Amino acid sequence: MKIVLLGAPGAGKGTYAQYFRDKYCIPHISTGDIFRAEIAANTELGRKIKTYVEQGLLVPDDIVIEVVKKRLQQPDTVNGFILDGYPRTLVQAKALDEITSIDAAVHLVVSEEVAVRRLSGRMVCPVCGRVYNIYYEPKPRVDEQCDYDGAKLVRRKDDEPEVVRQRYRVFYQTFNPVIEYYRNTRRLIEVNADKSIREVVPILEKILIENKILNLKPCREVVLN
Ligand code: AP5
Repeated sequence: MKIVLLGAPGAGKGTYAQYFRDKYCIPHISTGDIFRAEIAANTELGRKIKTYVEQGLLVPDDIVIEVVKKRLQQPDTVNGFILDGYPRTLVQAKALDEITSIDAAVHLVVSEEVAVRRLSGRMVCPVCGRVYNIYYEPKPRVDEQCDYDGAKLVRRKDDEPEVVRQRYRVFYQTFNPVIEYYRNTRRLIEVNADKSIREVVPILEKILIENKILNLKPCREVVLN
């Protein structure tokens, strides 16, 4: 299963990618997570992209394409992967088709109002990357602490309200051609992501199985909070 998850900030791309990663043991590749880790480690790449990410602007295509190409050469991607946050431009989408063959592009369709509320409540574990929310499930069992490793949860810098608004503007500037590209190549799947996680997960899983995109056996049971 080689899929990309598309959708506005707050659509739930990271949330669903983590579910499939945990249940089917395939890698979740998030360009946003890769960039945030590079910034935290103060690498050369991190220093180059810091301003873009923290202001909610797109990192230039040539940098993103190189990062994804390198990541997809790793051996853990042979049985498939879930790309989260890539592609964001038509140039990135076309470059991806030259790197590998993508089975489907799943568009998680979310209204701006719902997504903004989700982002304002998002908390992330800095150790394992698990995502929680103070308004919605999954909430951490103990306030501001990760259920899995006990680390203190943090808010992303780009979840500040003015940066969230900027991310929306930037997102919609490049998004339509990407959607049209996957529609025209008959790989687009659209799912209503305004619903709760418990409702979206089975719908998404069923569509992927029925379309013979997901044909892996679960490697562990995953309980939704
Ligand atoms: P990135 O990390 O990709 O951020 P994003 O696209 O803005 O997406 P988010 O992570 O905010 O949203 P999500 O859809 O993953 O939502 P989540 O599952 O966490 O990118 C960050 C930055 O990196 C970009 O701004 C850019 O600068 C750069 N970048 C990255 N990729 C790039 C590229 N390809 N090209 C150029 N630049 C790039 O859910 C959000 C919250 O809602 C969570 O708290 C979750 O628990 C909750 N939630 C989710 N679904 C539901 C639900 N159904 N019901 C209730 N709550 C829910």
